[in-house]
Amino acid sequence: MPVCKRDKIVAGNWKMNKTPSQTRSFIQQLDPMLEGVKGCRVVLCVPFVDIPAAAEKAGQYSVGAQNMHFEKAGAYTGEISAEMLTDLGVEYVIIGHSERRRDCAESDVSVNKKIIAVFENGMTPILCVGESQEQRDRGVAEEFIGLQIREALCGLTEELAGRLVIAYEPIWAIGTGKTASAKDAQDMCALIRAKVRQLYGDKTAESTHILYGGSMNGRNAPELLTCPDIDGGLIGGASLNPEDFIKIVRSAAL
Ligand code: 13P
Repeated sequence: MPVCKRDKIVAGNWKMNKTPSQTRSFIQQLDPMLEGVKGCRVVLCVPFVDIPAAAEKAGQYSVGAQNMHFEKAGAYTGEISAEMLTDLGVEYVIIGHSERRRDCAESDVSVNKKIIAVFENGMTPILCVGESQEQRDRGVAEEFIGLQIREALCGLTEELAGRLVIAYEPIWAIGTGKTASAKDAQDMCALIRAKVRQLYGDKTAESTHILYGGSMNGRNAPELLTCPDIDGGLIGGASLNPEDFIKIVRSAAL
């Protein structure tokens, strides 16, 4: 198997938190802390209205969005297009977060369309997958995640699949303080890589980035981030405070 050195990605998902003014003050604190960080891409996935404020100082970090519509433009009240995001300097878009699948009836079909639209507009999707506690208990987690991946990647070329970022976020670990053990997280991320390998082959599987998300923090990050198939983290709660967030970034950096 070819040995491919993937850099790490630490992405904050602010969810529905922070105003534009709070974003500016967060960036003012975080930006100097990022000085000299190497081997780790830092992404801030902020609410739509915070994007201009976050983009003002982008450079040591990239700006991400948390969702977008798959259509180019039109009568979609309340929606945001890919072009609107790229015009503001957005480089990453979270697609299919479990909170959106649960609360906004996000389906595998719309997730797939969104992933393709993100790529068509030169940005990178962060595809979220993950099982519920009930699915884990029933022993169907692996099958469920395999299906989520197959549907989400439908029609995607090998080249694009290799540029994809997938975040394994077990639903039971999100916002609960109940992090997956490093072994469980590694096993599931390896399984996701095996699924990509099955669909696209070795070379693609070795370049796809796979992140872990779910109650990651400064204490558990060092162990999680040294697992061979975990290429970084998607962080909710601990990304809202610069001091907490930088600890995770430092555990991922060279
Ligand atoms: P927490 O880190 O708050 O558990 O959230 C994880 C998450 O949902 C990131 O997308």
